[in-house]
Amino acid sequence: MTNDFTRMGEGTGMAYETIRVDSDDGVAVLTLDRPEKKNAMNPRLHDEVTDALEILRYDDDARVLVITGAGDAFSAGMDLKEFFIELKEKPAEYDRVTRVSVEWRGRTIRYFPKPTIAMVNGHCYGGAFTIVEACDLAVAADEAKFALSEINFKMFPGGSVSKSMGNLLRPRDYLWYAMTGRPFDGKTAADIGFVNFSVPLGELRETVMGAARDIAAKDPSALRATKEAYRHSLDMDWDTAMNYASAMEAQHTRRQDDAFRKEGIGDFLDKKYRPGLGGHEKVES
Ligand code: COA
Repeated sequence: MTNDFTRMGEGTGMAYETIRVDSDDGVAVLTLDRPEKKNAMNPRLHDEVTDALEILRYDDDARVLVITGAGDAFSAGMDLKEFFIELKEKPAEYDRVTRVSVEWRGRTIRYFPKPTIAMVNGHCYGGAFTIVEACDLAVAADEAKFALSEINFKMFPGGSVSKSMGNLLRPRDYLWYAMTGRPFDGKTAADIGFVNFSVPLGELRETVMGAARDIAAKDPSALRATKEAYRHSLDMDWDTAMNYASAMEAQHTRRQDDAFRKEGIGDFLDKKYRPGLGGHEKVES
């Protein structure tokens, strides 16, 4: 089944010019869509993504979110002209765009109530690293080009980049790439743990969409609890995290009407499937 989300922004009065949203079998694909500018993130793009994420958050047809780029780029990072140059004399707008851009990449995606996957199809620079880092999973094309290129134009990885990279990269790798500005490919991105793995570009979409469809078939409440229990407890001490996990278990079982006991464990005990070998979604009802 394929849903058409192309009119999605119209409900909020925002006809999208810089992004596209499509849906396929429960997987929403948000495409950064300024290929002529290598999908550099201009102020309008940040507003449009923010709007789309708000809609997808509550759309039951969107069970997994994939983020990718049009053409040969994932994203060339912040739009250097429209952000750094054109807003230089407009401090209020510069501040607003900074906040909006940091919010959707730093927090909205990270704590999105559904699984998120970055599908890195090509060029990925500077600020675009924070999209990849904030997504739960990331798969790159072998051919994708990555660089923390800020140092190459006499800047440092500002905004949320430095903090965001500290969540994922080893200090040696981060400082190496941030200080040299040297590019690396998808295979290296996998080697240093920046993405889960890489595949040849020709196999990227089907690989990612296949995994996304598999995940979309899992219990949505359990998926949400999986990422929330992990992400929120990172900042907690042990006792608080145990308390939080207990509260989350109560919330989860109520949200899914105890399906993990009734169907999940129940069907295992009835010998209908073995959870160690595959998911409950394959059980004939
Ligand atoms: N901000 C604004 N515009 C950008 C951009 C960015 N981050 N990245 C690319 N573009 C624009 C180019 O200015 C060019 O616009 P034009 O056709 O109107 O002149 C267009 O996108 C295509 O880029 P071009 O440089 O001609 O393509 P290329 O294939 O030769 O190189 C890149 C692609 C991405 C390697 C190169 O554009 C680049 O180095 N971009 C900057 C990347 C960067 O440092 N990003 C970090 C930002 S935090």
